[in-house]
Amino acid sequence: MPAPLPDRNDIRIAIIGLGYVGLPLAAAFGRKYPTVGFDIDAARVDELRRHHDHTLEMSEEELKASTRLACSADPADLKDCNVFIVTVPTPIDDYKRPDLRPLESASRTVGRAIARGGVAIFESTVYPGATEEICVPIIERESGLTFNENFSAGYSPERINPGDKEHRLETILKVTSGSTPEAADFVDALYASIITAGTHKASGIRVAEAAKVIENTQRDVNIALINELALIFGRMGIDTHEVLEAAGTKWNFLPFRPGLVGGHCIGVDPYYLTHKAQQIGYHPEVILAGRRINDSMGGHVAQRVVKLMQQRGLQTSGAKVLILGLAFKENCPDLRNTRVTDIIDELRTYRVDVDVHDPWVSPAQASHEYGISPVAEPQAGHYDAVILAVAHREFIALGADGVRAFGKPGAVLFDVKRALPRDRVDGCL
Ligand SMILES: NC(=O)c1ccc[n+]([C@@H]2O[C@H](COP(=O)([O-])OP(=O)(O)OC[C@H]3O[C@@H](n4cnc5c(N)ncnc54)[C@H](O)[C@@H]3O)[C@@H](O)[C@H]2O)c1
Repeated sequence: MPAPLPDRNDIRIAIIGLGYVGLPLAAAFGRKYPTVGFDIDAARVDELRRHHDHTLEMSEEELKASTRLACSADPADLKDCNVFIVTVPTPIDDYKRPDLRPLESASRTVGRAIARGGVAIFESTVYPGATEEICVPIIERESGLTFNENFSAGYSPERINPGDKEHRLETILKVTSGSTPEAADFVDALYASIITAGTHKASGIRVAEAAKVIENTQRDVNIALINELALIFGRMGIDTHEVLEAAGTKWNFLPFRPGLVGGHCIGVDPYYLTHKAQQIGYHPEVILAGRRINDSMGGHVAQRVVKLMQQRGLQTSGAKVLILGLAFKENCPDLRNTRVTDIIDELRTYRVDVDVHDPWVSPAQASHEYGISPVAEPQAGHYDAVILAVAHREFIALGADGVRAFGKPGAVLFDVKRALPRDRVDGCL
């Protein structure tokens, strides 16, 4: 006889991993249920105890309102919990293969704390099958419990978007699933108790896992198509944005824009799917072709800028170029998998001297992650070219004249994001 699921009036939640995904979730559950927010990063736990969130997703007031949330870096504090929700990173390695180490380590943590009747829910983005093939056996091994007899599992992918104040955890419909019909009902009701937008109960864990990974794969492939169009039209001297504006007047033309595809979701998740596909003997073509195009865009931007400089008779070796923006997207401090680094790397092959300015990012993190020391105040009139790489609101507020003022007279101004008027810049995607 399977162990009963936790009583609805006695739910004690653990969130494993308090990052962009885990913290809002811990805060939401912590308004309603006793919740332990666990992270291996003691400094992160420390700042959260002081009600400070350096990712800027949660305000001090929001964290204070979560009165039943306690944060800890000590796994012993998980012992009393009966629902474990895993929200740790799922990155790729240098060979673009899934790096499952954080997920495996979090599964060990769950396995050591979970007791009979407990539920382990995974939110990290994975390939279909990973929860039951990788995580569940680790929990069984560590706990000595039998899956679907003594404990159950669930998968509920997250859809939040860093820096997006409109689409929040509570206002985005949430897909849920469970390892048995009873577990699926339990997981669905648990999320329904905090998500005002409602839930969609998928037929199984693998379906929910697949749904998440294709959401980002679809975006990646769509952006790749637009990037490829930008590469073609760029060679033909046709303005891609004007083409997209015209085509966009058709009711079913999708509104994607060219650009760098960074962050740790859209440019990473497709590799989880292609990895699994290859494992089962299918070699994906469209998905990987899209990845290759999107990963080439930073180098392409750098080459366009170098060409524009040469056309003006500007020497590139030793030239000074300013890049505005290092974060992977606008108005957010997230540096993970930023592809602005591809622009920098390619410019450096031309012996260009590159300065980066980004008021949003932590200079210590930029230096630690990428060996880049951003300049706090770029000098006016100092640069041979200025590249607007990320459309942070501070840069937009400067306007084309303000951005151009960083350059010497005759400097090149390249607008990756098409955020400035086209007739005021020298090039854009
Ligand atoms: N950021 C997003 O917008 C987003 C959106 C949807 C889905 N996701 C997915 O959610 C997952 C988490 O992403 P994130 O952006 O929150 O990551 P993150 O890097 O912001 O946070 C992860 C946290 O987990 C902690 N951690 C790492 N290993 C741990 C372990 N073994 N035990 C406990 N804590 C551990 C880290 O210290 C960090 O604080 C990933 O799979 C990601 O793909 C992210």
